[in-house]
Amino acid sequence: MIVASSILFRLTCLFSLIALITAQTVADSSDVFDVTKYSASCDATADVNSKAFADAWQAACKCAGNTTFLVPEGTFQLGPVKFVGPCTGATPKVQILGTLVAPSDVKAFTDPAWIEFDSVHELVMEGSGVIDGQGQEAWGQDCKDKAISLRLFRVINGKVSNLTFTKSKFFHIAVHKSQMITVENLNISAPCDSKNTDGVHVSGSSDVILNALTIGTGDDCISIGPGSVNITISGVKCGPGHGISIGSLGKYKDEENVANIHVKNCTVTGTSNGLRIKTWPGSPPSEAFNITFEDVALNNVSYPIIIDQSYCPHGHCTTTEPSQVKLRDIFFNHIHGTSNTEAAVTLQCSEVVPCQNVKLQDINLSPFPSFCPNISSICSHVLGAVLGIQSPDPCLGPHVP
Ligand SMILES: *[C@@H]1O[C@H](CO)[C@@H](O)[C@H](O)[C@H]1NC(C)=O
Ligand SMILES: *[C@@H]1O[C@H](CO)[C@@H](O)[C@H](O)[C@H]1NC(C)=O
Ligand SMILES: *[C@@H]1O[C@H](CO)[C@@H](O)[C@H](O)[C@H]1NC(C)=O
Ligand SMILES: *[C@@H]1O[C@H](CO)[C@@H](O)[C@H](O)[C@H]1NC(C)=O
Ligand SMILES: *[C@@H]1O[C@H](CO)[C@@H](O)[C@H](O)[C@H]1NC(C)=O
Ligand SMILES: *[C@@H]1O[C@H](CO)[C@@H](O)[C@H](O)[C@H]1NC(C)=O
Ligand SMILES: *[C@@H]1O[C@H](CO)[C@@H](O)[C@H](O)[C@H]1NC(C)=O
Ligand SMILES: *[C@@H]1O[C@H](CO)[C@@H](O)[C@H](O)[C@H]1NC(C)=O
Repeated sequence: MIVASSILFRLTCLFSLIALITAQTVADSSDVFDVTKYSASCDATADVNSKAFADAWQAACKCAGNTTFLVPEGTFQLGPVKFVGPCTGATPKVQILGTLVAPSDVKAFTDPAWIEFDSVHELVMEGSGVIDGQGQEAWGQDCKDKAISLRLFRVINGKVSNLTFTKSKFFHIAVHKSQMITVENLNISAPCDSKNTDGVHVSGSSDVILNALTIGTGDDCISIGPGSVNITISGVKCGPGHGISIGSLGKYKDEENVANIHVKNCTVTGTSNGLRIKTWPGSPPSEAFNITFEDVALNNVSYPIIIDQSYCPHGHCTTTEPSQVKLRDIFFNHIHGTSNTEAAVTLQCSEVVPCQNVKLQDINLSPFPSFCPNISSICSHVLGAVLGIQSPDPCLGPHVP
């Protein structure tokens, strides 16, 4: 039975390929599933192209052997599209050479994402293409459930690289309930006043590498949400935006812990926050631990180092109760640059679960010229130590020079 069905798949594949090759009378590489051979075109509507993309994916996903799902050069209007796996054959390589343009109307979307990969294993998505979320209308609206441009959901073993993302309605990329994911060599950009346009958001996922990303947005360049474990962030150039954030945490009940986050070799420029951990007031119990920020340059940043356990954007909080998210084993190591407000180092932890084992080592921040005369540190409910160079003067002891 298994053999028979596998032969059937191969035959189906072969026949559809023969049909395509005959139709084109072109000796294309036979394992390329080009969306334009499935009625996608630069003149077609977003809906027609969505269907063509889904059809091409389904055909490729059934094929045994190595296949490529290809979007050639050109500009394609594209509505919501879901790439569902696991594939019965090998997962097609996804190659995007063209520009994908989303409908600007937020009502065109009902699912969380514009482009979603669900339960796909061994995903490779790359190319010199552009993913344009057309978020201009969405940013001005207060509705929730705006579309994420690219969502990896339940993906195991995936890599997204070399693409350009711009103007998403909501997050540019979200990695959720996924494992072993690399996101690398991307350029992500949206205007500095565009709301909720986080560059990359990770939640409920483990073993994620975010590397060599250039991100400028109106929100967090990177945000690490509940349930993120074993996450490495390196070579990120962030700004403008709200910096690199762990959180926000504790908005909902029963959030999973955050652990083992390593941020290293990043540059953050002209942002409101630099390196931040944020939890909501009144948040239910959970933990975030073993978080290291290392070798980071912060230039012209308003709050370069900040732990904020009463995070309340736009003043929409219903409580002033302390957060119950416990933060421990938090390391800031070799962080240098300039602050454009006095509050260069802010460690404001929860009075019910004080931060434990916060270590600051070799912190060398100075006032951003002409913006502020002096910088300082503010601590509350935090236990830990400082080592090496400390500028501003630390508010945390003991000081080991
Ligand atoms: C698919 O590609 C991989 C690596 O490129 C290669 O090792 C493998 O043999 C290929 N499989 C088939 C069926 O062509
Ligand atoms: C990456 O993008 C550049 C242009 O931005 C292109 O020249 C190169 O071929 C792409 N590489 C891959 C692996 O897609
Ligand atoms: C990133 O994309 C933006 C807008 O598309 C562009 O202005 C910028 O030059 C790009 N940066 C890099 C490093 O490719
Ligand atoms: C995280 O990494 C540690 C050390 O490599 C490993 O023991 C643990 O299983 C990983 N956790 C998850 C959830 O992958
Ligand atoms: C640090 O990040 C930059 C990109 O911002 C990259 O060019 C450089 O190779 C990285 N250095 C190391 C040691 O990884
Ligand atoms: C802390 O996280 C790092 C990765 O950032 C990992 O290598 C290390 O094993 C973790 N430490 C513990 C005690 O789990
Ligand atoms: C510093 O950052 C502020 C925004 O916080 C910006 O308005 C200003 O232009 C930046 N200055 C320089 C010299 O980059
Ligand atoms: C700068 O801040 C330090 C404390 O951080 C304070 O002792 C000093 O008086 C301040 N200097 C000015 C000029 O405000």
